[in-house]
Amino acid sequence: MRVDIVSIFPEYLAPLDLSLIGRARASGLLRLAVHDLRSWTHDVHRTVDDTPYGGGPGMVMRPEPWGEALDALAPAEAPQPRLLVPSPAGTPFTQAMAHELAAEERLLFACGRYEGIDQRVLEHAAARMPVTEVSLGDYVLFGGEVAVLVILEAVTRLLPGVLGNAGSLDEESHAHGLLEAPVYTKPPSWRGHDVPEILRSGDHGRIARWRRDEALRRTAARRPDMLAALADDLDKRDVAAL
Ligand code: ADE
Repeated sequence: MRVDIVSIFPEYLAPLDLSLIGRARASGLLRLAVHDLRSWTHDVHRTVDDTPYGGGPGMVMRPEPWGEALDALAPAEAPQPRLLVPSPAGTPFTQAMAHELAAEERLLFACGRYEGIDQRVLEHAAARMPVTEVSLGDYVLFGGEVAVLVILEAVTRLLPGVLGNAGSLDEESHAHGLLEAPVYTKPPSWRGHDVPEILRSGDHGRIARWRRDEALRRTAARRPDMLAALADDLDKRDVAAL
């Protein structure tokens, strides 16, 4: 997968050199480049923002540098990437969207700052590439950079060959619309707290049922919205037993 990120703070994306994402880059599974939006400005102050039409607080990112950046990174005659614009006004990011993005050949992230990017940039781009405004959640960040780190971490771990143990993708929280059961390791007793006996029983059938019950209990307590969405394929007795 190829990923381009445009930002006025390229240094914010430095963590993408680390850990498993860094390794995915080094191995060629992920080709990633970070670009400074200001390299597409032409005035001495390298201006990227201006006051909003209609008034109001803050500044808005001007369309010209963004237009040039998108022209340079996605020339009209070439195969087009999917453009992702992090915004608190976007579609909520989910594990399902992470899977969708992991199947794309190319992603292009446009990191807005201030009050956001002039909407015409997105309208213009939408004529030649799919454009998605995406939100991490119902809160406001300073800009899109941290959102890109989050989205790329969720997407990269789904790329074939990135995770050592692909089985962990199947069991984790959100894989089947439930939160994951709690996990334990050695020692069996620690500061007066014991590992649940059943996990040490060696009875794989009982362990699987225990994990599913715990997943249901947790999801009911913490995320009743997820449980309601699952209602169709849930065994009614599982729910009644909670
Ligand atoms: N930029 C600012 N706030 C954001 C959020 N909640 N999600 C994605 N991008 C953002």
